[in-house]
Amino acid sequence: MSLLAVRNLAVSFQVAHGWGRRQNLLAVRNVDLDLNRGQALGLVGESGCGKSTLARAIMLLTPIDSGSIVLDGTDLTKLSAGTLRTTRRRMQMIFQDPRSSLNPTMSIARAVAEPLVIHEGRLSKQDLAKRVGGLLDQVGLPSSVARAYPVELSGGQRQRVAIARALACKPDVLIADEPTSALDVSVQAQVMNLLARLQREHHLAMLLVSHNLELVRIVCSDMAVMYLGRIVERGPTGELCNNPVHPYTKALMDAVPKIDAADISPSRLEGDVPSPIDLPSGCSFAPRCPKKNKPKACFAAEPPLEKAGRGHLVACHLADVTKNQ
Ligand SMILES: Nc1ncnc2c1ncn2[C@@H]1O[C@H](COP(=O)(O)OP(=O)(O)OP(=O)(O)O)[C@@H](O)[C@H]1O
Ligand SMILES: [Mg+2]
Repeated sequence: MSLLAVRNLAVSFQVAHGWGRRQNLLAVRNVDLDLNRGQALGLVGESGCGKSTLARAIMLLTPIDSGSIVLDGTDLTKLSAGTLRTTRRRMQMIFQDPRSSLNPTMSIARAVAEPLVIHEGRLSKQDLAKRVGGLLDQVGLPSSVARAYPVELSGGQRQRVAIARALACKPDVLIADEPTSALDVSVQAQVMNLLARLQREHHLAMLLVSHNLELVRIVCSDMAVMYLGRIVERGPTGELCNNPVHPYTKALMDAVPKIDAADISPSRLEGDVPSPIDLPSGCSFAPRCPKKNKPKACFAAEPPLEKAGRGHLVACHLADVTKNQ
C-alpha cells in the first residue's frame, strides 16, 4: 500500500452564477493518486484545472465532497479534529507566495521554532536555538537570519524559511504548489534545486504542482496530467514525456518550447476549456480533442483511467488507437 493513497476525491465550490443564482463548480472530480516515500510526483495542467484545489484538499485545507485520503493506512477524512492536527504534521505544504505563509510579526527564529514547539513540546532555549540553526543551515541560510523579520528578507530567502519550517515537522509528505513561480527568475533554480535535494536526502514523498513541464521533467520521477478537475494521464515522467497517450498530454508536450514558468497553454488545441460549472457530457476533453472520427463513446461517458503500460494510466476512449499511431 502506498504511503499516501487518495481515492475518488471530489471537491466542489458553490459559486454565484447569474442573478442571485448559485451553482456547483466541480473543481476536482474522482481523483485517485498514490505517492510513496522518496517519490516525486509532478502535477501539471492548464490554469484553473484544479491543481491547487487538489493539493489543498489532500492537506484537508479545503473541505471535500467525497473520497478518502489515506496516509500510512489512516484515512484522514475520518479523524477527529484533534487527531487530525497531530497526524497532519506528517504532511506539510509549501505555497506559491512565501509572504502569505510567514507571519510578518514573527521573527524567523520564532517562525521556524513554532512547529518544533507545537509538535515536540517544551525544548530548552539552547536546544531550540540549535535546532533552528540546523534547519536554517539545511536550507542554505546563515544563522544570523534567525533574528530578522520576513520583511527584511528577499523572496528567495523567505521561501527557504518556509521550507525550513516545513522540514521542522519532519514530514513524510511534502506538497509544493508552484513553490518558485512567485520568485525572481534568478533564484527560482536555486530554490528548486534546494527542494529537490532535500526531497532526495529526506526521502520525502513530494507532490510538486507546477506550470513548468521542463522543471517537472527534471525533478520528478512521475507525472500526473490534470484536465478540468480529473487526472487524464499518469505515469513515469520519461514515459509520459516520450510516449504521451492522451491527446491533451500530447498537446502539452508539443507546447513545451513555447511555455515559460508562468504559462502552460497548449496552443495547438482549438476552443476554450469548458466551464467546470457546465461540463460537457462524455469525455470533458472531447470538445477540444483534435482526434478525427471520434466514436460516440467520447460524447457519452467519461473514460476511466486505465492501464496503458507499466505504471502508466490514461483516461481516453481512443487510448489504444492513439498508442499505436
Ligand atoms: N475558493 C474558491 N471558490 C470558488 N471557486 C474556486 C475556489 N478555488 C478555486 N476555484 C475554482 O476551481 C477551479 C480550479 O482552481 P485551482 O485554483 O485549483 O486551479 P489551478 O489548476 O491551481 O490553477 P492555476 O494554475 O492558475 O493556479 C477554477 O475554476 C477556480 O476558479
Ligand atoms: Mg494553482
